[in-house]
Amino acid sequence: MAGANETMINELFVEKADTFRLERISLILLLGCNLKCKHCCVQAPYYERKYYPTLDFIKREIDATFTIADCINYFSVEGGEVFLRKDLALILTHLSQYVDKIGVEAPVITNGSFLPGRDVIGAAKLFGEKIRFIIDDYGVLSPNAHEMAKILRDEGIRCDLRNYDDNPYCGGWVDLYGDYGEKHSADAAEAMFLKCAWAQKLHGVFEIIGGLFYFCPASRVFSERNRTENEAIDFLAKGVSLQEIRARIQAWFEGGAISACRFCNGIHDHSERKRPAVQLTAGEETSARLSTFRYRENLGEVL
Ligand SMILES: C[S@@+](CC[C@H](N)C(=O)[O-])C[C@H]1O[C@@H](n2cnc3c(N)ncnc32)[C@H](O)[C@@H]1O
Ligand code: SF4
Ligand code: SF4
Repeated sequence: MAGANETMINELFVEKADTFRLERISLILLLGCNLKCKHCCVQAPYYERKYYPTLDFIKREIDATFTIADCINYFSVEGGEVFLRKDLALILTHLSQYVDKIGVEAPVITNGSFLPGRDVIGAAKLFGEKIRFIIDDYGVLSPNAHEMAKILRDEGIRCDLRNYDDNPYCGGWVDLYGDYGEKHSADAAEAMFLKCAWAQKLHGVFEIIGGLFYFCPASRVFSERNRTENEAIDFLAKGVSLQEIRARIQAWFEGGAISACRFCNGIHDHSERKRPAVQLTAGEETSARLSTFRYRENLGEVL
């Protein structure tokens, strides 16, 4: 609980003595997707009930995150497939009011299936140089990737096409989860954490989903599969103070492996690379369905 002198996260006015910076945050807008990639790192195809929060809830997450952090270098917007949200332009417009607190850029990551409407183009322009569309080109699975890049470039909006097809970016994907079983001793988990690019090179790939911060998507996945305790930070919880949240985030940086590292293959220079975006077959899809859905079920906005 917050002490009498602590600042409540939901207060509008927050006095800050010092600057609290975060390197990288991924805001998950939904877990619905038109593709069913077997090794999807956020496990989008594995949910029977897809996370789909309200626009108001996403705005609250954004506002609270920029109350916690004075500056976030990379604020990614992703899913699932973000273009499946018809209110994507409204979300980007809301985020754009924090453009001065985004240190480097706001990447918007998409699978290249859909074309941007005028509303999304208008909202993207509010960021100036600080927005970048990352268009993942999964070959035939991304029919509009090249056209999208052309439209955005013609509008002067930064974007990058990532080849995940015939010469895959970074050599391909990794299988983070395997059979979801325990893979490492405590010492080996520590060693995995120390070589995992997400933990080290990227300084954590914090995921925001359902009003929770996860250190990385694997932390969510293994807790949903009941392999680990839920180590998320509930940053919208009533009574939680700004100081408490910052202290818990700081502890992530100062601590070593998280409990998910014992189960995880991690992602590092020597990870075995997989062909990106291999689709689940109908048989695999049925057997793989995961109906556990523990973060903020009470949202009531689940598709
Ligand atoms: C989860 S996806 C969501 C955005 C969008 N649906 C897409 O696929 O581009 C976010 C990023 O993670 C990458 N990704 C997904 N699964 C991965 C894996 N197993 N290994 C490495 N990168 C992965 C995707 O290529 C994409 O750049
Ligand atoms: S396109 Fe593939 S990687 Fe991206 S969210 Fe959908 S299933 Fe996951
Ligand atoms: S759980 Fe996996 S992805 Fe997350 S920090 Fe540990 S090794 Fe890296």
